[in-house]
Amino acid sequence: MNIKETGADFLPINGTDYVEFYVGNAKQAAHYYQTAFGFQPLAYAGLETGLKDKASYVLKQGKITFVFTSALVPESAVATHCKLHGDGVKVIALWVDDARKSFEETTKRGAKVYQEPMVHEDQNGVVITAGIYTYGETVHLFVERKNYHGVFMPGYIKWDPVYKPASVGLKYVDHMVGNVGWNEMNVWSEFYSRVMGFTQLVSFDDKDISTEYTALMSKVMANSNLKIKFPLNEPAEGKKKSQIEEYLDFYRSPGVQHAALATDNIIETVTALKSRGVEFLKVPAAYYDTVPDRVGSIDEELKPLSDLGILVDRDDEGYLLQIFTKPVEDRPTLFYEIIQRKGARSFGKGNFRALFEAIELEQQSRGTL
Ligand code: FE2
Repeated sequence: MNIKETGADFLPINGTDYVEFYVGNAKQAAHYYQTAFGFQPLAYAGLETGLKDKASYVLKQGKITFVFTSALVPESAVATHCKLHGDGVKVIALWVDDARKSFEETTKRGAKVYQEPMVHEDQNGVVITAGIYTYGETVHLFVERKNYHGVFMPGYIKWDPVYKPASVGLKYVDHMVGNVGWNEMNVWSEFYSRVMGFTQLVSFDDKDISTEYTALMSKVMANSNLKIKFPLNEPAEGKKKSQIEEYLDFYRSPGVQHAALATDNIIETVTALKSRGVEFLKVPAAYYDTVPDRVGSIDEELKPLSDLGILVDRDDEGYLLQIFTKPVEDRPTLFYEIIQRKGARSFGKGNFRALFEAIELEQQSRGTL
């Protein structure tokens, strides 16, 4: 049963609150996301604020909040996580009006507890958090901040360095994609529907998403107001190792494969990102020969799209422009998508083949195909 059948959403979510990454060196990661991706410094917690075992840097761009956390001592859970997975997403925090109720509703439906409801308080008010596990060691933290007016959360101080490279125009998290293990697609799509009340938007199987060598299956789960969209990928048998298998081998478990960040002007955003050293996947120039036939007329000139390697796809409601970075750490795990929607609410199915062939070229060079 879904929201349309029951008429009630037991887990109303306002949007993505923040994404927290566990990384080897948060200070340097924060610098990279400022310099390369245009995130703005917001808040900090560490030794200076009384923490003994970890440090966190909070950065913001548009409505996107990223937190980079690293361990100060080897006994820290952050250190254990990094040793196993490398740098990656630990927390996808969801902005809710009632964290305790979100926790109760999901745990009574079978969610595994990560953190019991906790009240965080300082002179700026109160934040309540509670957390549940999803795939792998990834966590959803429910964040209730309606009674808080500080920069980020109690425990954090304002971080206001002199160094502040300009934003690149990223606006909000469009979707966050999880790679799950073999035969786990139904386990996790069922988790999102039963435990979190999400519904399935679309699904693709290996006939939609296969190249000569690699295959995968994908389902997109979304909450009732569509603010939260979680595509899930599962590897499928192909002639060679798929990018999903490569991810699972290096991340050592299911985890977040990519975050799609939205912009209102993808040509400007990608031009800025490239000039700051962000590396993108490149599709063959021949890709653009078929674009006019496949997507019809679009507002943008084809030349800058082709120069930058931006992909185009159309659905019944409009079109979208998208491009994918290379992994942003040495393990071929997490990467980013930059997306501009012009009416389309889909995910670029028409680009999957061109895209996966581009990824296979990268895998070939890593010896992991
Ligand atoms: Fe995506």
